[in-house]
Amino acid sequence: MATTVAFDVYGTLIDTSGVISALEKVIGGQAAAMSELWRQKQLEYSFRRGLMQNYRDFSVCTRQALDYACEFLGVDISPADKGRLMEGYKVLPAYADVEEGLARLKDSGVRMFAFSNGRAEDVRGLLANAGIEGHFEGVVSVDDVRSFKPNPAVYAHFLRQAGASGSESWLVSGNPFDVIGAMSAGMRGAWVKRSPRAVFDPWEFEPTVTVGGLGELHDALAGERGRS
Ligand code: 2OP
Repeated sequence: MATTVAFDVYGTLIDTSGVISALEKVIGGQAAAMSELWRQKQLEYSFRRGLMQNYRDFSVCTRQALDYACEFLGVDISPADKGRLMEGYKVLPAYADVEEGLARLKDSGVRMFAFSNGRAEDVRGLLANAGIEGHFEGVVSVDDVRSFKPNPAVYAHFLRQAGASGSESWLVSGNPFDVIGAMSAGMRGAWVKRSPRAVFDPWEFEPTVTVGGLGELHDALAGERGRS
């Protein structure tokens, strides 16, 4: 059976800090802090909505997190500028190592999917804008099951959509909570640790492999195939 790989999108293929330059034009020096708080709250809102079983799609989490971050940091951004920032979130850049890493892995016959909290149409737009959509066999969104990572139901949904088994499938993510969620649901987990300062949650899970960027993924997965 071919190895199947689910690539997380925001924070793995696509760099959410790409929004900083747009934020700088609107709020100047607080842009980096705003970007970080915006992302943290976006994820927190998705976790909470998943637990509450009160689903609104990821763009709602993103927009409400932006409103929170503005309020918390005491920054006034007009509705028009907020609208522009939200549009900017649809055209964020890919990380520099992504294109080459994906191409190398695809050449080895691995089945590749994008798998995200984002709505499928938003994810397709992001991948197309970054010029990497051609690498993927498909896009799988949690939106189909109206919950969010790390609910085990969304990883099960991915496996059903891909027609793959957990033991032959990898979740590749820069987000430790996502790696842990996938492994807890029976998949293998590859953590993309792009910064030496990134910390993996000290739980009872360890990533099956850890890579410094997608360029290392081909060899890391081949090494694991050799072992199993
Ligand atoms: C994604 O699912 C977790 O935000 C991340 O794309």
